[in-house]
Amino acid sequence: MTSLAGKIALVTGSRRGIGRLVAEHLLERGATVVGFARGEGTIEHAAYRHYRVDVADPAAVQRAFGSIAKDVGPVQIVVNNAAVLTSQYAMIMPPAAAQEMLNVNLLGPFMVSREAAKMMRRTKWGRIVNIGSMAASLEPIGDSIYAATKAGVATLANVLAKELGPLGVTCNTLAVTAIDSEMLAQLPRDKVEAIIQRLPVPRFAEADDILNVLDFLVSDRSGYITAQTIWLGGIN
Ligand SMILES: NC(=O)c1ccc[n+]([C@@H]2O[C@H](COP(=O)([O-])OP(=O)(O)OC[C@H]3O[C@@H](n4cnc5c(N)ncnc54)[C@H](OP(=O)(O)O)[C@@H]3O)[C@@H](O)[C@H]2O)c1
Repeated sequence: MTSLAGKIALVTGSRRGIGRLVAEHLLERGATVVGFARGEGTIEHAAYRHYRVDVADPAAVQRAFGSIAKDVGPVQIVVNNAAVLTSQYAMIMPPAAAQEMLNVNLLGPFMVSREAAKMMRRTKWGRIVNIGSMAASLEPIGDSIYAATKAGVATLANVLAKELGPLGVTCNTLAVTAIDSEMLAQLPRDKVEAIIQRLPVPRFAEADDILNVLDFLVSDRSGYITAQTIWLGGIN
């Protein structure tokens, strides 16, 4: 695998779970990594820069990109990973929780992608990967808004792929299945296990399942791969 030395990658939601896994992997591959989360950074690495940013706040995202331009340089790889989940029947879902999912899971990737694209267009090279979910395909009860936001990030990537393709920027979605994290722990284990048992590959995702596809999508050789959703575990 080629080194990512000299590349600047931005990972949202980098302080735990999948985001941390991805950020640490990109660091291992030689990239400089900028991480966004609302909380303090948890990664200690000379090439890691943490920004406390709420991706649901467009002005905060824009301010952070101003600082990145000055302090780090132009972002070339984006992994839109930060998201929140409240799983609840629609009739009793608190409106504030529904609004938060829209703002974090959909508006966040939109703002981060558009600000990054302004940097990528200058170097005519960029890779944007949205972290999607099996929920967008399986449409589980209780996850109406969450699943809709995850379908939304795939649509967002597909439209941005058209806008940014001529600028050398690809936009794809990596739709993950269940992997242990704080988010997954919010769901009843028996409900998750029942879903997993029905997958073509009936097991939880492992770190390498995610990193394998990520490496493919951010590769220099993947410049002709755009507007795709790659579903782990055989979902379609
Ligand atoms: N785990 C699974 O089984 C699973 C399955 C399918 C899809 N996914 C997707 O995978 C991604 C990562 O999920 P995860 O399980 O790793 O979640 P997680 O453990 O809850 O971690 C979420 C990360 O996002 C950050 N974050 C949340 N809201 C934010 C905001 N407004 N602004 C900036 N950062 C924010 C959190 O840090 P702060 O709290 O400090 O902000 C944290 O670092 C999500 O897109 C999720 O939808 C996960």
